[in-house]
Amino acid sequence: MFSLKRVANAYFCGRNFTNYMSNRTFTMIKPDATQKGYTGAILDQIIKAGFTVKAMKWTRLTEAQAGLFYEVHKERPFYGELVAFMSSGPIVAAILEKENAVADFRKLIGATNPAQAEEGTIRKLYAASVGENAVHGSDSDENAAIEGDFFFSKLERF
Ligand code: CMP
Repeated sequence: MFSLKRVANAYFCGRNFTNYMSNRTFTMIKPDATQKGYTGAILDQIIKAGFTVKAMKWTRLTEAQAGLFYEVHKERPFYGELVAFMSSGPIVAAILEKENAVADFRKLIGATNPAQAEEGTIRKLYAASVGENAVHGSDSDENAAIEGDFFFSKLERF
């Protein structure tokens, strides 16, 4: 199976990721949050924070797709648990736009472990644990571009 990064490299043909995506990030509302009915509240908080939705879909990952998306964590002890969880129910995937999108979105969602997340952040409000932590946010412009391309074709974004 192709790696996420190789597919993205072929697609971008060496284009500069930073220039291409610096105002965009990628997010998923994870199965814990969709199944607890938090999708609307989380989207509302994202939009009120100034992010514009450029692409969005409600879908469910197969185990193979979840494994590919998180392949960077393949050697980590929690990889199997992460893949099983991310394919356990529906998710909402979205590309978001805002100035300084990656950093601002990570601030909005809070620390990976909700126990360490600041008051008012999405993970503090809606996440139960480090594994079931309600939302994903890209950690760099390069990964935002790769992750957005994993879910959306050119026709599905604007
Ligand atoms: P996310 O931002 O989606 O990126 C990688 C994910 O791995 C992270 O959120 C967590 O949900 C998950 N993760 C990180 N550390 C652990 C852990 N110790 N146990 C289970 N899952 C983890």
